[in-house]
Amino acid sequence: MIKISEKLWGGRFEKSTDEMINEFQASINFDKRMYREDIEGSIAHAKMLSKCKIISDDDAQKIIDGLKKILADIDEGKFNFSVELEDIHMNIESALTKNIGEAGGRLHTARSRNDQVALDMHLYVRRQVEEIQKLIAELQDALINSAEKNLGVIMPGYTHLQRAQPILFSHHLMAYYFMLKRDFARFLGVGQRADIMPLGAGALAGTTFPIDRKFVADELKFTDIYLNSLDAVSDRDYILEFLSAASILMVHLSRLSEEIILWCSREFSFIELDDAHCTGSSMMPQKKNPDVPELVRGKTGRVIGHLMAMLTTVKALPLAYNKDLQEDKEGLFDAIDTVKFSLAVFAQIIRGMKIKSENMRRAVEEDFSNATDLADYLVKKGLPFRQAHEVSGKLVHHCIERGIYLKDLSTEEFKNFSEKFAEDIHDAIKPETCVNSRNSLGGTSIEQVKMQIKAARKIF
Ligand code: ARG
Repeated sequence: MIKISEKLWGGRFEKSTDEMINEFQASINFDKRMYREDIEGSIAHAKMLSKCKIISDDDAQKIIDGLKKILADIDEGKFNFSVELEDIHMNIESALTKNIGEAGGRLHTARSRNDQVALDMHLYVRRQVEEIQKLIAELQDALINSAEKNLGVIMPGYTHLQRAQPILFSHHLMAYYFMLKRDFARFLGVGQRADIMPLGAGALAGTTFPIDRKFVADELKFTDIYLNSLDAVSDRDYILEFLSAASILMVHLSRLSEEIILWCSREFSFIELDDAHCTGSSMMPQKKNPDVPELVRGKTGRVIGHLMAMLTTVKALPLAYNKDLQEDKEGLFDAIDTVKFSLAVFAQIIRGMKIKSENMRRAVEEDFSNATDLADYLVKKGLPFRQAHEVSGKLVHHCIERGIYLKDLSTEEFKNFSEKFAEDIHDAIKPETCVNSRNSLGGTSIEQVKMQIKAARKIF
């Protein structure tokens, strides 16, 4: 146990911190993952202090060299993190002073942990956003590739999970591409909001030293600088936005997961996942379970949970820093890990997924998802849509009663229901016709889906 005099803030205290309290309030176990950002920020701060003649060039150089050494030690797993030193900031600062002596004690001039932690978090979020964007792009790429490769595969499109109208499988995949495109844009926005420099806010009110915040911002490539010190140390909007963008992204992945799980079932049998991406059952020898999409669907709940937790933490929090804000980290870090892992495995799932096009086709042919096309056919022959709907409904009913499908009816039988029917009705209700005649902008025809793929390719 370290003596109270060894704590960086020990001066005012007579007693050592209670051991349990120490453990309760320490964040080192989770904030140590920001060591790189903390050191980057401290190096920029030290450079600024010397440039503004607040510390000597000599001291600044010692600090910078010392910090680089610590960075290397941590990278190599040679650094001893201590719970008693609370957090990553004090662990690093105290090691620095131990290594380089008095100069280390000058690093924290004109700085508080409140603006320091804010800086670290901005740097960390900014970097993670970029990595997440890359992973989103990779998943999008996997979707586009599959859409392109399977162009022409027809499946039933669903509403109410009932077969509704024939669509291209590629059209379905591209719908997810566009959801991810919005996710990408949302993360871009998060990155922009995180791209603002808080250091120099001090504990809450600024500092008495002649600092140069612009210099630090330039050093760390920040576009913007907080213009209000209270806001700088209290703002967690970018974390809320991150968690919100992450939740929406996970909801998208969860929807796709649900569909993949359904499609893998014997009942659908539309796709098969790669053996390398599934597990078996310890009891039932026949099982091949879609664990990955199930887990992604399951993990969505915890990311949404982190968003709710953070909203609740910030709600009713008075300005400026409160220790509650330390709670911004674990949920954020877990959301980052969950999102990145889910995106990465999902790209693999999509790349390895086998499409069972005959089963999709059968699901279209052995059903009535072409009934709208029957009605549209009559409308094009002059019948008002409502009457055409009625006639088509009766035909469907007639077929169901006889256990056949629309394609099994002869032209004569069609004619019994309406004089408007002619030989060409059989062509009009073929799956290819149904799909390709939906050639309105954004529709499911091959032409429209090709256009979507082309537009998507242009973006990357
Ligand atoms: N570990 C703290 C956090 O994550 C750092 C800031 C502490 N500031 C303070 N005044 N106790 O929020």
